[in-house]
Amino acid sequence: MYDIEQIRRDFPILSASINGHPNTFLDTAASAQKPQCVIDAISQTYAESYANVHRGAYYLSEEMTVKYEQARAKVRKFLNAASEHEIVFTRNATEALNLVAYSWGRKFLKPGDEVLISQAEHHANLIPWQILRDEIGIKLQIFKIADDGSYVADEFLGLLSEKTKLVSVTAMSNVLGTIFPIADMVKAAHRVGALFMVDACQYAAHRKIDVQNWDCDFLAFSGHKTYGPSGIGVLYGKMSLLEQMPPYQVGGDMVDTVSYDHTTYALPPARFEAGTPAMVDAIGLGVALDYLQNLGWDNLCAHEEDLIAYTNAKLQEIPGLKIIGTAADKGGVFSFDLNGIHAQDVAFILDKEGVAVRTGHHCAEPLIKRMGYTSLARASLGLYTSYQDIDRFVSALRKAQSFF
Ligand code: ALA
Repeated sequence: MYDIEQIRRDFPILSASINGHPNTFLDTAASAQKPQCVIDAISQTYAESYANVHRGAYYLSEEMTVKYEQARAKVRKFLNAASEHEIVFTRNATEALNLVAYSWGRKFLKPGDEVLISQAEHHANLIPWQILRDEIGIKLQIFKIADDGSYVADEFLGLLSEKTKLVSVTAMSNVLGTIFPIADMVKAAHRVGALFMVDACQYAAHRKIDVQNWDCDFLAFSGHKTYGPSGIGVLYGKMSLLEQMPPYQVGGDMVDTVSYDHTTYALPPARFEAGTPAMVDAIGLGVALDYLQNLGWDNLCAHEEDLIAYTNAKLQEIPGLKIIGTAADKGGVFSFDLNGIHAQDVAFILDKEGVAVRTGHHCAEPLIKRMGYTSLARASLGLYTSYQDIDRFVSALRKAQSFF
């Protein structure tokens, strides 16, 4: 049983008043709010067991190392990865994507090789490949999506060839909500000998991930979108790939031996975690992933499905409101245009009513242009979003409309 009122009480910020109104937080796709258990884990770690990891032969350092590695074990379980060695802690999903581009890409890609992405990618899954295109001379291929934001298999398959060395695609678009059929896409990519990287930034907070079932080669997600702290993210990579990759950054705790002449590197994941890591945030992330999973994926998905249907129905009652991204399989993201009113103006009025939505190009400028806009407003749902949130959102939209 999904007790939304109880769940909302787990998130202290949701009871705050914003501009004299209830906090109607509809920007979870940008960053999720944090449950009390995550906030407590962070403050308790600083108060009771803080020290650097992997470096001290004393009680606190050893305790902190155990907790940090337990957090890695929780991420392994969350993704169903085969081994904890396949879990690299990064700063965020952006860093995980950059790591693969810079480390794997620079070592293995040659002029003329192709990297294939979709039109729906976030800048973090576009710009790293543009840089490799300009530096190495690879070809960046971009497959089209449909006007309603749906995945079109023929567009993807039409650009996949033996020249494709890597496919890198979002599992759920942060602008359109479109869910991509990753398992089928991975199979097709592997048939032509290409590797597959998943940007699971949005998906990770909405649907259960099983990297072994998908058989993807790399996957990135961020802690802050999965109800954990900001400043921590994850790169999953198959061990057979990670162990062939050079470090992305160098420094402490990622070496085997160092002399003035020569350095040898540690095995993954340490090889990719130079310097003191975001260890408290990793511990917070572990607690957030436990929280998410304890709610149960079936319950989370059922709640989201009901809310999506409710939101769709309510938004359709507003004349002049157009939802951008209406794929049949989509997560709880509603980018919209309201009578051509500038998104910034809409958001300004909504904010006065305590309603938070994101505006702009959502770090996916080419996608927004492809959909025919320069800027959009976006409401996004989280596990704590209630029907009352949607009702307040809809009445604030009507108010915004009345001003223009
Ligand atoms: N990528 C995040 C968003 O869609 C920040 O808002």
